[in-house]
Amino acid sequence: MNTSENNKTNKILSEKTENRDKEGRSIDYLRISVTDRCNLRCCYCMPEGIKLLEMSDILSYEEIEHIVRVFAKEGISRLKVTGGEPLVRPGCPGLIKRLKAVPGIEEISITTNGILLKKNLDELKEAGLDGINISLDTLNREKYRKITGFDKLEEVLEAVDAAVDSGIRTKINTAVMKGINTDEILELAQMARDRALDVRFIEMMPIGYGSRFEYADNSYILAELKKEYPDMTGDSRRHGNGPAVYYSIPGFAGGIGFISAVSNKFCENCNRMRLTSTGVLKYCLCFEDGSELKSILRDTEMSESLKDERLREEFRRAMEKKPKEHCFEDRSRISETKEMFRIGG
Ligand code: 5AD
Ligand code: SF4
Repeated sequence: MNTSENNKTNKILSEKTENRDKEGRSIDYLRISVTDRCNLRCCYCMPEGIKLLEMSDILSYEEIEHIVRVFAKEGISRLKVTGGEPLVRPGCPGLIKRLKAVPGIEEISITTNGILLKKNLDELKEAGLDGINISLDTLNREKYRKITGFDKLEEVLEAVDAAVDSGIRTKINTAVMKGINTDEILELAQMARDRALDVRFIEMMPIGYGSRFEYADNSYILAELKKEYPDMTGDSRRHGNGPAVYYSIPGFAGGIGFISAVSNKFCENCNRMRLTSTGVLKYCLCFEDGSELKSILRDTEMSESLKDERLREEFRRAMEKKPKEHCFEDRSRISETKEMFRIGG
């Protein structure tokens, strides 16, 4: 790093405050849902017939940027842009470019279903996007149609290859449902054989419509893969922001990840908060509690500096309120009733 970069980094660090929550966890990662809209209707997320939000209830890009500017000074350095499907909201690459320019923001990735990815890829690359997570639960065309409601598997597969070719770090997210896609684990893992991408198996969490499906324990998936690839070994390298545990398979270009939110609580290492599309700062996926930020941003009586101060206070309050752990194992205690497309995956 040269001297001027060093000075810039030191300045940002000195402007940042201690960002540990009451459990001592360092919170540096914010997931931002930019829309509740989606061009698919995945059975565990957003089935047909749900009511969408009014556009006026959804934060504008300026409002999102405002929050990020304040939070970056509080220690947030990595962002995930999610939805619904983030790329259905016009101008999403432009937002990413603006957020990437916010001092203190080091990394931005996106979670997408891939349908609109090819069309947006050049702009996303130009915006400085660091990572793309593509949701893909099956390689079977008919099953894809059944799970998502649309015959779009081909588009997604093309988008996967285009994403890898773009040089942006690419991951496939597979939400596993017992009896629905457990038979395709091997084929899905093999996507990482000839492509420089990670395939991650995610245990279906009992949030929203996800509670209608039975999750498959990741230890079962690992055991199945080990039958085929006994030389599979744990890989301690960090591949991103999250709690995934990675393995490598000899001869594979990419890695295999496991996100075991249900069978193996990783809450003690939680590093995140979530901003919903309506401007609620959520502390934990499992509970409905959150800080309402939109009314601060839209208060016409409040000065800009007072708004910054109020947002900062809310962030600090969130650090105090963030629960120790989720309670997916005891559904009666889950207070979050919103569906995943409203929370942002
Ligand atoms: N449990 C786990 N993953 C989920 N997703 C949506 N709902 C759930 C759930 N209940 C995943 C999607 C997509 C991302 C946005 O979140 O599969 O990859
Ligand atoms: Fe859309 Fe993703 Fe929800 Fe599927 S899981 S409906 S792609 S937001």
